[in-house]
Amino acid sequence: MPEAAIITRAEQLRTEIQQHLYRYHVLGAPIITDGEYDALFRELVEIEETYPDLRTPDSPTQRTGSDLSEDLPKVPHPAPILSLSNAFSTEDLQQWETRNLKLLPANIQLDYVLEPKLDGLTIVITYSNGILTTAATRGNGEVGDDVTANIRTIPTVPLRIPATDNGKTAPKQLTVRGEVLFLKTDFERVNQEQAAKGLPAYVNARNTASGSLKQKDSRITASRPLTTYIYDIVAVDGAVPDKEWDILAFLRDMGFHLIPDAAYFNNLSQVMDALSSWEARRHNLPFEIDGVVLKINDVAIRQELGFAGKDPRGATAYKFPSEEATTKLLGVTVNIGRTGKVTPTAQLEPVFVSGVTVSNASLHNYDLIQQMDIRLGDTVIIKRSGEVIPYVVGPVEGARTGEEQPILPPEKCPHCDTALIKPAGAVDLFCPNPRCPERVFRSLEFFVSRGAMDIEGMGPQTIAILIEQKRIQDEADIFYLTAQHFEGLEGFAEKKILNLLDSIQAAKERPLAQLLTSLGIDGVGSTVSGVLADRFRTIDALLELAVQVKQAEAAFLQEAQPLIQTGTSLLEQTPEAQKAQLRLQNPLVELAPRYMDSQDVPKKLERLLKPIWEAAPPTAPTAQTLAAALAHLIDVAKPLMQIEGLGSVLVSSIIAWFADDYQRSLLHKMRQAGVNMQAAESIKAGNALEGLTFVITGTMSVPREQIEALIETHGGKVSGSVSKKTSYVVAGEAAGSKLEKAQSLGIKVISEADLRAMV
Ligand code: IVH
Repeated sequence: MPEAAIITRAEQLRTEIQQHLYRYHVLGAPIITDGEYDALFRELVEIEETYPDLRTPDSPTQRTGSDLSEDLPKVPHPAPILSLSNAFSTEDLQQWETRNLKLLPANIQLDYVLEPKLDGLTIVITYSNGILTTAATRGNGEVGDDVTANIRTIPTVPLRIPATDNGKTAPKQLTVRGEVLFLKTDFERVNQEQAAKGLPAYVNARNTASGSLKQKDSRITASRPLTTYIYDIVAVDGAVPDKEWDILAFLRDMGFHLIPDAAYFNNLSQVMDALSSWEARRHNLPFEIDGVVLKINDVAIRQELGFAGKDPRGATAYKFPSEEATTKLLGVTVNIGRTGKVTPTAQLEPVFVSGVTVSNASLHNYDLIQQMDIRLGDTVIIKRSGEVIPYVVGPVEGARTGEEQPILPPEKCPHCDTALIKPAGAVDLFCPNPRCPERVFRSLEFFVSRGAMDIEGMGPQTIAILIEQKRIQDEADIFYLTAQHFEGLEGFAEKKILNLLDSIQAAKERPLAQLLTSLGIDGVGSTVSGVLADRFRTIDALLELAVQVKQAEAAFLQEAQPLIQTGTSLLEQTPEAQKAQLRLQNPLVELAPRYMDSQDVPKKLERLLKPIWEAAPPTAPTAQTLAAALAHLIDVAKPLMQIEGLGSVLVSSIIAWFADDYQRSLLHKMRQAGVNMQAAESIKAGNALEGLTFVITGTMSVPREQIEALIETHGGKVSGSVSKKTSYVVAGEAAGSKLEKAQSLGIKVISEADLRAMV
């Protein structure tokens, strides 16, 4: 008989957990994080395991979760879709094995298969004679929602097995289990598309995947970049291997998409040694995981072990420590970055999460604060994941007292008092003053950092002192520093000064790409810088291009003036009219990319600017002039626009930076100080491709940049899009629309091997 305290505690836990379930599922307003819930649940499970008499039929541990929807047909599963017990520490794992060994004949040595535990939603797919017949969600474990049509739209799901002609045969009936999810990059893309449509971002990838899968119209599912991974056999009519490790090979042979990182271990101590490296890898994987799943390799042993409640004994989930915690939002400070971007920062009651105490976290931007309705004084959920700066996930609305206050966006920069702006289409506020002391500090801090100009010995503190003592005001001033500038500054011994001056001297010789990275142009990291340095070879070429583009843009805006006026005076400001107006005012971002390879520009202009155009139709010659002005803009901006991977927003940000008077004078000052502004001479390998323009499409045997370099070092040019001027299209595997376009224009298509033969 357990002590009274334990009986009370179990009772307390049951009530508390039940309340949290109600808040989460019914009210949609949880007041604790998933991690905190897990901890309560685990405590109750442990008590009930030690004192099975305390297990009541209404205990939340006796419930199998259900995610059934009301409006989808139901599919019964051929075998129960079970969940897994959890382990939260190596001790838990050890106990799990010890418990299992007690149930098995003596001297059995257990070996294991470990897989990442994907944070998606379970899917159960059945194949009859190799053909996909049904797909269902987990539901309540016995029946699930029928999502067959939706699952069929996911490219990683084979509609027939084996997926390729590999000489294997599918079992008569096979039901497999796996997980549906968004890869991290795909989820980011979904949110970028949301933002481009002016729609709020999705916060939770798992819920979004679930929503995408449970659509009644499978076209909506098809438009979402979902992925599946298969990891288990639920039921089979036919022969399958008797070891988990071989089952994975069997599933692979059938053409299923398997989790790429399964690992085999001889014994549990090897598993435990590997756990910390798995946790470290967590953030480098392309998908979200919340732990690893450990399965006894021998299927017969797993069957012999049977079940504990609803969980099979032969497998368990080792959960990583939670990365979320709740705490109080005490205040919001305004952070200004080097580009002027305003980031509201949460001041928090200190809270311990993923191994450190966190007292401030990013609130992203004021739009999001409003969307999520975060208020001062709220209890908020914060997340600290890998290298990412801790951020606020959202408020715990259920914990409100009514005392909470709204958070209002600032109107002025707290450092220079300049009115903040919000560029059209942006979600962030910006301080537009390039001389803002905070912006200057942040830019300088970045400029000297590793990966940028890499000036050793010049940390943020040195920068701060030099600015404060008015020895430097901008990046270029660094290159004019002499020993005298350090006179009277504390902590700068002679040796230290000499070393610092040496590093500054060395930094003048950095390659062009590194200088470009250091400038901190919004969106221009090391990759883009490398491409720019490669294509333009000198800072001058970029400066010149920026001037020309700005002139061409001004010329277009002048021609467009009458239409813009019409747009402004339009009585009915429909969303279409507003969009048209925005297009007219931002031709480089909005119009140029749409017209890059267009034949009939005036016609298309008319279509894109419809509401304004119709209100006051321009005469044919006016339309022609406008189209010509746009064509000219495209022509001069082409060297940038053509570069693959540079979107129009980035192109415009690069142009704006190089056209800006402040930045131009900064570069001038650096040049005067002897900073290198040229790319090193590229090694010419030959001129076999002189005068030829290539477009690359599909997958090559080596990274695409290498193919580009091969073409360029042999005198050829690389372009991003197929036009009549293209000499050859180099097509690799899975070549898409560019190949079709080449064929329709009658342009020669060659393989990578053909290209290599040419040089
Ligand atoms: S095996 C009977 N393997 O985690 C054992 N499950 O907490 C079947 N999950 O409901 C599960 N990744 O939806 C297994 N590699 C993996 C998994 C995995 C994610 C999910 C699964 C299950 C839950 C258990």
